[in-house]
Amino acid sequence: MSATPPRLLVTGAGGQLGRRVVELLLETGTPNLIAASRDPSKLADLAARGVETRRVDFNDPASLAAAFAGVDRLLLVSTDSLDVPGRRIAQHRAAIAAAQDAGVNHLVYTSAPGARPQEGGGVIDDHFWTEQAVAASAIPGWTILRHNIYAEILLMGAGQAVASGALYSATAGAGRAYVSREDCARTDAAALRQGEGRRILDVSGPAAVTQDEVAALYAKLSGKPVTHHALPADALCQGLAGAGLPPSLVAVLVDFDVAAAEGQHAIVTDVVETLTGQAPVSVAAFLEAHRAALV
Ligand SMILES: NC(=O)c1ccc[n+]([C@@H]2O[C@H](COP(=O)([O-])OP(=O)(O)OC[C@H]3O[C@@H](n4cnc5c(N)ncnc54)[C@H](OP(=O)(O)O)[C@@H]3O)[C@@H](O)[C@H]2O)c1
Repeated sequence: MSATPPRLLVTGAGGQLGRRVVELLLETGTPNLIAASRDPSKLADLAARGVETRRVDFNDPASLAAAFAGVDRLLLVSTDSLDVPGRRIAQHRAAIAAAQDAGVNHLVYTSAPGARPQEGGGVIDDHFWTEQAVAASAIPGWTILRHNIYAEILLMGAGQAVASGALYSATAGAGRAYVSREDCARTDAAALRQGEGRRILDVSGPAAVTQDEVAALYAKLSGKPVTHHALPADALCQGLAGAGLPPSLVAVLVDFDVAAAEGQHAIVTDVVETLTGQAPVSVAAFLEAHRAALV
């Protein structure tokens, strides 16, 4: 008689990454799947494909014991709650405590490269303290997957850079190993399926790409001149705020550039290929596939 397969729960399945992880697990025939979201009605199509759905809202810690009941492995997708200082780390701590109390035996967390404490908090500080909470918990196994910056982030500013001919950054010439959300989702799904060890892994694209190289790719793919201008962090902050971006997004983008300037985003690993059997997409191939966003 075969053992019952482990029960896998993905939080944030209403978001882009979480949804894709559930879809990939379905495609590989993984049984005993639970997709969880603050709003399970967003998961109706997954339910129609046989996936159990549950309501999971980290802002409602009292509900998490029932939400995680019977779960063996859990993918904790970091939330996007960056507007209220301290909220995201409180959410993640509540989720980790509930996972521990529910008897989860392996937790996968989506972290960021160079997770470390930051004076005054912020996106990287949240990831550091979440990693600490995972490691300090009594959950027997865990995989921290430090997703490098999504290649999709490039598409947010690519059209503007091509239109103006100018790409601004505060990366000080350092490279960044952009990785696509799809490659992160494939890696997360694989880690959840494997459910082994206690590891911190950097999930990167195939190379660290500088902003000069990004500008050159924009120029090549659009046929228009694009030049990279290196700025100090405070000037980038002013420029992004002046362009009308919300303060929480400005803070994240500037923090990311400062981290890149420190070399934190340049770590290139073979984690995507090792876990999934398929190499990650390069920035050049990613932008080629999204050429329409450039023009
Ligand atoms: N490496 C990078 O460059 C990069 C870029 C963007 C984001 N991220 C991080 O990666 C995560 C996933 O990215 P994405 O592109 O899928 O973002 P997204 O589509 O904006 O999704 C946001 C996610 O946050 C979840 N969430 C928000 N509030 C929550 C709460 N109270 N309780 C539980 N979950 C909550 C959402 O879950 P439901 O809606 O299903 O409840 C959803 O999965 C983001 O949330 C962010 O932490 C990383």
